[in-house]
Amino acid sequence: MRDNYGRAISYIRISVTDRCNLRCRYCMPETGISKLDHSQILSFEDTVAIAEAVSDLGISKIRLTGGEPLVRRNITGLVGRLAEIPGIEEVTLTTNGTLFEQMAKSLHSQGLKRVNFSMDSLIAEKYRFITRDGSLQDAWKGILAAMELGMNPVKINTVIIKGFNDDEILQFADLAYRFPLQIRFIEFMPVGDLLFWDQSRVISIQEVKTIIGKQYNLLPTLQAGNGPAEQFKLEGGQGGVGFISPLSNHFCAKCNRIRLTAEGKLRTCLYDYHETDLKSALVEGIGRAELAQLIAQAISRKPERHHMDCGWGENNNRKMYQIGG
Ligand code: 5AD
Ligand code: SF4
Repeated sequence: MRDNYGRAISYIRISVTDRCNLRCRYCMPETGISKLDHSQILSFEDTVAIAEAVSDLGISKIRLTGGEPLVRRNITGLVGRLAEIPGIEEVTLTTNGTLFEQMAKSLHSQGLKRVNFSMDSLIAEKYRFITRDGSLQDAWKGILAAMELGMNPVKINTVIIKGFNDDEILQFADLAYRFPLQIRFIEFMPVGDLLFWDQSRVISIQEVKTIIGKQYNLLPTLQAGNGPAEQFKLEGGQGGVGFISPLSNHFCAKCNRIRLTAEGKLRTCLYDYHETDLKSALVEGIGRAELAQLIAQAISRKPERHHMDCGWGENNNRKMYQIGG
């Protein structure tokens, strides 16, 4: 369906858990995270019911996020059930990748089409630092497994943080040169807990692009879908790079997505704290058509754009890892 600004909504991001096996410094505090209780988390039955309802509204793509989606029990089974829904053409995943390798084959055979990995350093000690004890080797094994299964294009999200990994920009680009990978450089954003965020740590995505442009010939590629990344192929290379800069160049006019939190609340914009409680509606026994109608109403109230340049917002009650990025 189209929202009130004429945008076709075709994509839902579903956060399946607020938990994570890592603790990236910009995302989660080391300790003292208030975790959702199992009873608060949307069940698989209800997740499938919502996916069916959104497919009735013309949504064809589902991305599972977290926290870390692979820590949710039987996530493979959920992928299978979602992939079976008529009208759902693509089920994808955003993951830190450290648990992916051992699950890769079964996820793939259940219908998982593609994966976006998060990786902010290519140096084991730095990776361990930013993730607070994550293993770069495990994450890399996950990426290799996805490539071996031909889940193309395999994407890597890299948040560029000045003084931390801005000296690795060319190494990341080189990875996209040597492998059929899409490296997406993301501007460090003031979202969530603001744990690690500081203006002095931001490097504009334009600067990142300039650094890469000096070394590689960037060939613009046609945008697949309405993603936020400006995409390029590296001339002579295997893969490509993308640049995501929500602050300096907001992409709301092309936004095609809605989000479901792990608690079953629908958000039509990452930065808008208005939520529609679908879990409660399901508990009350709402049917498929009414559920689709409730979601359609929420979509019709999707805001025109975010106002992140005015801050994440005092009223924003949720952290990034609770919404799923
Ligand atoms: N700024 C930029 N990107 C972020 N992510 C999480 N927090 C931030 C932030 N403050 C990214 C993760 C992941 C994606 C889902 O969002 O690194 O790749
Ligand atoms: Fe986990 Fe991703 Fe947050 Fe890192 S950024 S702590 S991997 S949810």
